[in-house]
Amino acid sequence: MLKRTHFCGDVTEALTGKDVSINGWLDTRRDHGGVIFLDIRDKTGKVQVVFDPEINGALHETAHKLRGEYVLGISGRVRPRPEGTKNPKLKTGMVEIVADTVEVFNQSLPLPFPIDESAEVGEDLRLKYRYLDLRRPKIMENLTIRHTLTKLIRKYLDENGFTDVETPVLFKSTPEGARDYLVPSRVNPGTFFALPQSPQMLKQILMVAGLDRYYQIVKCFRDEDLRADRQPEFTQIDIEMSFIEEDDIMGHAENFIRNVFEHVRSIKLPEQFKRMTYAQAMEEYGNDKPDTRFEMKLKTISEIFDGSEFKIFAETVKNGGVVKALNFKASADKLSRKDIDDLVAFAVRQGAGGMAWIRFAEKPESPIVKFISEDRLNKLKEMMGVEKGDIVFFMADKQNKVNDILSRVRLHIGEKYSLYGKNSLEFLWVVDFPLLSYNEEEKRYEANHHPFTAPKDEDIALLDTEPLKARARAYDMVLNGTEIGGGSIRIHNSELQKKMFGLINIADEKAEMMFGFLLDALKYGAPPHGGIAFGLDRIAMILTGSASIRDVIAFPKTAKAQCLLSNAPSEVDQKQLRELSIKLSLD
Ligand code: AMO
Repeated sequence: MLKRTHFCGDVTEALTGKDVSINGWLDTRRDHGGVIFLDIRDKTGKVQVVFDPEINGALHETAHKLRGEYVLGISGRVRPRPEGTKNPKLKTGMVEIVADTVEVFNQSLPLPFPIDESAEVGEDLRLKYRYLDLRRPKIMENLTIRHTLTKLIRKYLDENGFTDVETPVLFKSTPEGARDYLVPSRVNPGTFFALPQSPQMLKQILMVAGLDRYYQIVKCFRDEDLRADRQPEFTQIDIEMSFIEEDDIMGHAENFIRNVFEHVRSIKLPEQFKRMTYAQAMEEYGNDKPDTRFEMKLKTISEIFDGSEFKIFAETVKNGGVVKALNFKASADKLSRKDIDDLVAFAVRQGAGGMAWIRFAEKPESPIVKFISEDRLNKLKEMMGVEKGDIVFFMADKQNKVNDILSRVRLHIGEKYSLYGKNSLEFLWVVDFPLLSYNEEEKRYEANHHPFTAPKDEDIALLDTEPLKARARAYDMVLNGTEIGGGSIRIHNSELQKKMFGLINIADEKAEMMFGFLLDALKYGAPPHGGIAFGLDRIAMILTGSASIRDVIAFPKTAKAQCLLSNAPSEVDQKQLRELSIKLSLD
């Protein structure tokens, strides 16, 4: 076998006059009036190879028969490219290899799509032929960056006394809030393992065991509706520490994130990341993972409409709803009436009953301005910091709904009107989450993070009086509006843990069945502990500037949770089902 001496991307001017051998795929083939040029590609890049009939007639004949994606070994001598054919944009663009031997390792069928990245190819086709898609340099680069990311994180955690421990994949349901993927047990008919949504309880048990600092780069499984930044199986950088408080964990997390961005993107991040309370995030950004790359904050302006002529808004406020607004500064000249209507239509598509607006040109323009008295208008201007040239958008409804929709309108405007730099990175900790929220449908409290999260010491008494007011010792790291990590200090006292289960209405027997082993462990000398988990795929997505989480995962699932490469999930034999004591009832 003709073995390589160099990777394609490493054949540069320094090798001029040397004999080299390369292995790779035929990327492009150009026939220039007799002389044939092949670009040969491997994971490091491409290099040009020349077949000149004047130099070697037989070899030139062979080159005629080579086609796209043939797998080749080629040796030859490196020479400078003739003037006028040099390509300084390419690392190998100043030289070419004059071939003297070619070995064809394999042929290729004509491709279903070109490897060339300038060609737009539907994602379904790319995923079906993932091995071809992965030959595309950008996605190969993504996998390499992901590798660097995990390498740096492992190094940091190792140097700081964290031990990598593997936890089982065949386990028990864990309470991260999504549906479980179940695995039937053949040996114990009628029983199931659940694939872990996270190793949450096991990492806590490792703390009880005295491991002190744990980490794992680990697959987690959640059967939930998929979005651009969600996969049914994804990877966490999972961390747990004993004898610590919030700042210890947040400090380590900042350190390794800083480390990663400095190495991979040569970006220096601040010594301390900003922190924002959940309450402020909800008020000013309408959600708990604010995109702080741009301002345009939301503001509650209910008082302006309370008792006003603008009946719909006045009624909403009277019935306990709110009016919130955002000021799109200096946009009156930029936005036509149609642009404004498009934004309103966007809000309606998100579920809003409507969205009101006032354009502050020479004088305020809006279909609703006649319903707002001069006094109220002045107040609105003052509260929203309005100057000439601004457009204020506002919405009235129940608080949750206004926050949800207006925050999406804010993000939509931010993206559509490029209100932030493409490369800007805004990190933020969101802290002081409420411990519990109320599930209207099921008429019960549920844990916001997970039921092992400790309440703030000063809020423990509230659990008996106003549980919804109790704040959690939880923290999320947010980057550009994406939650990249989240964690908490845990309850390490079995009585408080039991109380928490009681509050979220998990009856004793059920708690015992689901979490009994953890409750027991907490009775045998559990140290104070806490941790965090980062979404590795999400960090990789942002590091590589990818729009979809699928672009940083070698073999991802589609939005319908399918693998198009293997066609999983798929039907199985009756025999297999019988062995598992499973009967299907598909209507
Ligand atoms: P949490 O549920 O917040 O916490 O998950 C931690 C991080 O994992 C990422 N993530 C996902 N990434 C891709 N696809 C998904 N479906 C998905 N779901 C979550 C997010 C998120 O911030 N055991 C706790 C952590 C702890 O308390 O220590 C946990 O799993 O980036």
